[in-house]
Order: sequence, then structure tokens, then C-alpha cells
Amino acid sequence: MTAIKALEGCGALIEGIDLVDARDHEIDALRSAVFDYGVAFLHDQRLTPETHIAFAERVGPIVINRYFPKTDKYPQIAKVEKTEVQTLNIGGGWHTDHSYDEEPAMGSILVALETPPHGGDTLFANMYSAYDVLSDGLKKTLSGLRAVHGTAHVFGKAAAYANTERKEFTGSTDLPESTHPVVIVHPGSGKKALYVNPGFTLRFDGWTAEESAPLLAFLYEHASQPHFIYRFSWKPGSVAIWDNRATWHKAMNDYHGHRRLMHRITIAGERLTT
Ligand code: SIN
Repeated sequence: MTAIKALEGCGALIEGIDLVDARDHEIDALRSAVFDYGVAFLHDQRLTPETHIAFAERVGPIVINRYFPKTDKYPQIAKVEKTEVQTLNIGGGWHTDHSYDEEPAMGSILVALETPPHGGDTLFANMYSAYDVLSDGLKKTLSGLRAVHGTAHVFGKAAAYANTERKEFTGSTDLPESTHPVVIVHPGSGKKALYVNPGFTLRFDGWTAEESAPLLAFLYEHASQPHFIYRFSWKPGSVAIWDNRATWHKAMNDYHGHRRLMHRITIAGERLTT
């Protein structure tokens, strides 16, 4: 029987579902848990690349990330790896995947293949809760705002990854920018969520970057308070299914000298409204 246990801060632990041969009602329960809690965690799963893809297709259409290195045989699967000799990890700052797209990805399904003997956790922050506790005055101000999201500073030729040891990120020229409401109504849960993130939000629409910086800094500090966060520890076979519209995530980079290998599939989303 499926058990859904809400976790402190963000997310839910799911027990009693085998992702390889889940029934339709279990997939529906899982999707609802992801929408309501922002992220669902499962342990002891036995997903191969083929069954990972098959499960993802039951959750929603797969969208291929433009920038990430792919597994050799499966373009649908992004390889999220840090080797024993690398020092920079992938996704090491707070972000929301694909917010630079017109129709941001709904979420991702990350599977742990190899985990370090210690460290390598992922933090998830709850954007429903971060929004809920803002004052009525700030909620009113934010309700009239849109923000511009972009990716050139992360995945462009002169940007963060391209200038590091992570040469698999060669620097792209496909660098979209999109605007979205700062407060969205989540299309699956109907709840309001804060939709700006430190990784990809550039400025408020119609404001300069300098004008936007103080309010964005306040929102980032507010939303990354410990009581909005859950820290997930991985074992091989652990799976996290997160919703990019309801959470931020950040991979801890505290396991130098050890390998960590994850497979990620991203699920398509839709245009966001307020
Ligand atoms: C990511 O940002 O998609 C990677 C998260 C992780 O490796 O824990």
C-alpha cells in the first residue's frame, strides 16, 4: 500500500511504490504528491535507463535539456556526474530548472547510481511556504510583477561552466530568455508559489538589473531559510521527483575525491499564469 509521509520543510517520502511496474492509480498518487509537496522521494528503486524512460513517459512528455551531457545511448537522460578529480559539481547553487523557457519544465526525475561515502545531499526549498508567509503588502506588490529569466550567464560561451574544468558544457548559443509572473498559480495544485530563483532570474520585467537586485536578494534570503528546506541524502537506488514550479534545489558539493553519478530526465511543463 502506498504511504505518503510529509517531511519537515519540503517534500514527502513515498513508500510502497515500485516505479518499474507501478499501477496507474499509484502514478496518479505520485503525481499529486509531487504537486502538493513539491518533491517526492523514494528509496530502493531498481530503475535502469530503459525503465527510467518508461516511468518518466507515464509522468509526462520528456523534454531534452539543451545543455547537459547525455548518456551515451539515451539522449533523454542527462548525466549529472562529478568524478573523483573534478572540483565543481553540477547544480551547486539554488535554482529551478528551465525557468528560462517559455514553457518551463514541470519537473525532473533524478536517479542515484553512484553516491559518495559521505555528503552529496540535495537541498530542496518549498516555494509555496515561502510565498504563504510573506506580508499582505509584499504579496500585493509581487502580484503585479513579472520577471525575466535567462541562461547566458550559466550556459553561454563566456559563462560560468564553459570557463571551468566542466568542459562538457561547451558554451551554447541557444540562450533563451522568458518572462513569467513572480507569483504563479501552480497548474496542478492550484496553490500560489513564488517563482523567481537565484540561478536564472535576471530582473523584474520593466526594471533594470540594479533596481531589481535588492528585492530579489530579499526574496532569495527569505526563501532559503532553513524551515523551508529539506535535505535529502541519497543512496544508490534513491529517486527524487521534483516540481520546478513549487521548489528550488541545490546539490551540495562536499565530497571531493569521490564520484557521484546521477541520471536525470526532465518532464515538459506549460506556460505559467498568475
Ligand atoms: C540538478 O540540479 O539537476 C542536480 C541535482 C543533484 O545532482 O542533486
